[in-house]
Amino acid sequence: MRAFRLRAAEKAFAVYWGSMATDKTFYLETFGCQMNAHDSEKVIGTLEQQGYRQVESEEEAGLILYNTCSIRDKAEQKVFNRLNDYKKLHKQGKRFGVLGCVAQQEGEKIFERAPYVSLVSGSASYRKLPEMLTRLEAGEGRITGLDDRQTDETFETEFTARQNQYRGYITIIEGCDKFCSYCVVPYTRGKERSRTSTSVLHEARRIADLGYTEIQLLGQNVNSYRDPEGKMSFAELLAAVGEVAGIRRVRFTTSHPRDFTRDIVDAIDRVPTLCDHVHLPVQSGSARILKAMAREYSPEWYLERVAWIKASRRQISISTDIIVGFPGETEDDFIQTMDLLAEVEYDCVFAFKYSARPNTPALVMIDSIPEAETAKRLQALLDRQREIQRVNYSKQIGEIIEVMVEGTNPARGQIAGRSSQNKPVNFTSPHPIAPAPGSYLRVMITGAYPNSLVGESV
Ligand code: 5AD
Ligand code: SF4
Repeated sequence: MRAFRLRAAEKAFAVYWGSMATDKTFYLETFGCQMNAHDSEKVIGTLEQQGYRQVESEEEAGLILYNTCSIRDKAEQKVFNRLNDYKKLHKQGKRFGVLGCVAQQEGEKIFERAPYVSLVSGSASYRKLPEMLTRLEAGEGRITGLDDRQTDETFETEFTARQNQYRGYITIIEGCDKFCSYCVVPYTRGKERSRTSTSVLHEARRIADLGYTEIQLLGQNVNSYRDPEGKMSFAELLAAVGEVAGIRRVRFTTSHPRDFTRDIVDAIDRVPTLCDHVHLPVQSGSARILKAMAREYSPEWYLERVAWIKASRRQISISTDIIVGFPGETEDDFIQTMDLLAEVEYDCVFAFKYSARPNTPALVMIDSIPEAETAKRLQALLDRQREIQRVNYSKQIGEIIEVMVEGTNPARGQIAGRSSQNKPVNFTSPHPIAPAPGSYLRVMITGAYPNSLVGESV
């Protein structure tokens, strides 16, 4: 009976799909980090290449895709809530696919939890998307792409459908071999694998030819980059991308302190197009907690790298990620994190409550900190950081800086942009015509908030 029902559903789908054959539509929603955002650009390009057309809502689409994040439990829950919200659309013959980290982590269990899902694929299997789509179109269900950590290939495609008008993302390294004790990434994104510098530079030139002036190099640990051709170090690749004709800004994220070498700072000093910004996640200021996190550095090691960055001829802004309430974190450990904040004087901090994740070693550590205490620590940290930023940002009043325009807010008569240090800048211009996104203007800073600068173009 069940088999019959399944066959009937497949038949209904084949009829539905047939009627859509000339207009295969998909809706894609992305959760999580910039790596996911860029993966989505590649997935969209791949689908378009297969004759699909992107639409703006689940209701309009024949195929509904979620590119998912599982870094914290909340992010994962969001995906299942979304699937649940739209499951009734399955009855209209629409098909669902789960991509990304939740797909890789949960695998075929997703079919049990959400039986209307037909496709489950982790990022290491996106190369096989065209083949998986063909099977989907033939009416097959329960299609999986779940390559494990062993994959050697990065996912590259010339069909990337870039969604950002001014910033071109380029993945230079995928996966992670660090295995921090709290983190799912090594399990969801597989082992570390770098692209050749030749192919990275080829893509950088192509992006520049398309008119992009900003490039952001991406990798879970971008500075762990190892050129398979052995031609360039990470710092040399940074400099070479910065020297591509037409490129005015190069960013890179995320750097791991363990692999942060002095020549990265030297490259920023030397090559004007490399932005004045390093994102260097510290996670904790306590040596004991860093050890339990398996971060493989001490606070001293971290602060030495900060000192290199601060010794630069340029004003390099530093931002970080912090986890509060890691299992066993005492009040004293937390105070050490607060002290480190004050010492580094970050321009931006992304702080998270620890979230226990499947498969990770920290899962079995005794998690004795009451939720209310973790929440209190997080708030204290955010309050402290706000004060640090209030001081940092106000130091820039009176400076003239270069801002890249990202958009306009006509209602407020303001233009929104970003400084080389990655700070949001909201400014006014005497010109009646709003500047185009992606253009560069010089702005006099006249005011500051803890998270943004205010100014007038000069
Ligand atoms: N719980 C809370 N935060 C986490 N991060 C990674 N894993 C977890 C987790 N299990 C944070 C880290 C990392 C950022 C991307 O997410 O701070 O740098
Ligand atoms: Fe996760 Fe650590 Fe790898 Fe970053 S370095 S992705 S935190 S395991």
